[in-house]
Amino acid sequence: MRLPVAVKVGAFSLVVMGTYTYYANSIPQIQSKPPAELSLEGGNVTTAQLVKAGEEIFHTKGTCEICHRIGQKGTRAPDLSGVGARAAKTKPGMSAKQYIIESLLQPGAYIVEGYPNIMPQVDKPPIALNRSEVWALAAFLESLGGNVDVTLDDIPKTAGAAAAGGAPAEIKLPGDPKAGEVIFSTKAGCIACHKAGKIGASPVGPDLSQIAKIQTPDYIMKKILDPAGAGTVAGFPKGVMPPMFGQSLTAKEYMDLVAFLLTLK
Ligand code: HEC
Ligand code: HEC
Repeated sequence: MRLPVAVKVGAFSLVVMGTYTYYANSIPQIQSKPPAELSLEGGNVTTAQLVKAGEEIFHTKGTCEICHRIGQKGTRAPDLSGVGARAAKTKPGMSAKQYIIESLLQPGAYIVEGYPNIMPQVDKPPIALNRSEVWALAAFLESLGGNVDVTLDDIPKTAGAAAAGGAPAEIKLPGDPKAGEVIFSTKAGCIACHKAGKIGASPVGPDLSQIAKIQTPDYIMKKILDPAGAGTVAGFPKGVMPPMFGQSLTAKEYMDLVAFLLTLK
């Protein structure tokens, strides 16, 4: 079973804060002040801890799984399994860590063939990771098939500057809700079965007017791609919601649609 995000992040913060406190205590002059968000700067973190931290960020704050999976094809972005190995060969003259850092901070600098240029800069809102978090994430990606050799000094000092002062408490996803509303009632045809606030009236599927209040973004995103795998809503027939939206919608249409559904509360 997956733990709720808050619990996982909470447990992880304790580890980081413990490390930080240990370090601070070993130098009596430095005042021990627990960081409000993940900060590894100055901490004597081990490679294993760093990779673990990056993995947590991948699954939680990074929201990477909206688009990426590890070891699974057919999503809207490259499968990241083995990226630590292939990163060394992707761009001539660039090491694995250089390529990985570039793909996080300037995703548009190199576009993997066959994919649209839709990846957000991870250190800018809405994802807004700080410099330590980018470091941990790069270490995690290197660990997928490669050697972890990235250091904090490899991450530009400017990384995460926009995130300073605290990331928004609410997860904000890229996507245009207005465009998503149009997809809902035209190309995707959700409106044939669902009511959604002011639009639609069909009783075939559940009324989605409050869906963002009652369901997590994670669930909503999964339900569109894999209706059967997300579980069937009680009182409604199984297998009626079409399973092919992952193929028929483009990545942008999907993100816009999700953005629209997240306004329904
Ligand atoms: C909105 C969708 C989206 C999100 C969210 C997203 N990515 Fe991406 N990512 C892409 C797409 C599409 C590509 C391929 C096109 C390109 O190269 O920019 C890509 C490329 C990459 C690559 C290069 C892969 C390769 O095979 O060379 C890495 C590494 C990567 N993403 C990591 C991440 C991480 C880590 C996160 C979370 C912090 C993330 N991405 C969030 C869509 C996304
Ligand atoms: C042919 C009818 C049909 C179409 C088209 C359809 N759905 Fe559904 N949908 C259903 C039914 C029936 C259920 C309830 C049974 C289930 O959970 O599979 C459902 C369930 C859902 C749920 C879960 C609601 C909850 O309360 O947990 C979401 C979210 C959803 N649909 C979104 C969409 C979106 C977005 C589209 C368009 C991309 C869409 N559906 C297209 C019939 C449809």
